[in-house]
Amino acid sequence: MGNKNTASESKVPAHIAIIMDGNGRWARSRGLPRLAGHRAGTENLRRIIRACVEFGVKYLTIYAFSTENWGRPRDEIEGLMNILEDVIDRELTELHKEGVQLRHIGRLERLAPNIQEKVLEAIELTKNNQRLVLNVAFNYGGRDEIICAISKMLKDGVRPEEVNEELVSRYLFTAGVPDPDLIIRTSGELRISNFLIWQAAYSEWYVTPTCWPDFSKEEFRKALEAFTQRDRRFGGLSATVEDNPSHD
Ligand code: IPE
Ligand code: IPE
Ligand code: MG
Repeated sequence: MGNKNTASESKVPAHIAIIMDGNGRWARSRGLPRLAGHRAGTENLRRIIRACVEFGVKYLTIYAFSTENWGRPRDEIEGLMNILEDVIDRELTELHKEGVQLRHIGRLERLAPNIQEKVLEAIELTKNNQRLVLNVAFNYGGRDEIICAISKMLKDGVRPEEVNEELVSRYLFTAGVPDPDLIIRTSGELRISNFLIWQAAYSEWYVTPTCWPDFSKEEFRKALEAFTQRDRRFGGLSATVEDNPSHD
């Protein structure tokens, strides 16, 4: 084992983003309606949030509803909206007690006014918590986020020569949040599905065939373990190569 691995063994990703996929297939394989899968997925989310607090993860971003998910049947969309409302009602007090700061990324406008209000109240209540920042991507799309950012920049009269990576990052929904170190996708699909397309430029990926409701704390730990073995080069050379000129 080289230096790099020993040094990174205790390394927990600061920011983990999760594409919580496979709820529908989980339900179908049990002869249950898709919404039962979404409910089970929510139960699992609670476990993974607790695990993040325990492992010392600072930021967790979860993909809960994409801008493309509006294309699903009305019943399923309504069910997902109800789940969001229920989760806030049932979990907020506990999350607040545990020091979780809730944030939202995406556009709230299209959601029912009472849900918008609940989300805003939850954000306000938890805004000073420091243990874990939980970014909920709901009605979120990476392209929509970029469109939103361009539109705001134009409104603010940003000059062409001022546009750089740092400025664009500040105009995104994730302003102030470091880019994800690790992105986990459950249920085996090998695609980004319009999630954090700007921020994922150098994220490490962990894809598992396990459907989201079955993605356990143990498997989450395995994903973190895999992360410690990654050699993140960001287009440069790995530390071991740089330290050892005879390598090339
Ligand atoms: C992910 O599970 C949750 C949402 C997209 C809201 P899916 O509902 O996409 O489950 P599959 O992919 O159909 O199994
Ligand atoms: C991505 O999953 C969106 C969420 C997990 C909320 P989808 O199930 O919508 O993605 P595709 O359609 O398989 O790409
Ligand atoms: Mg899916």
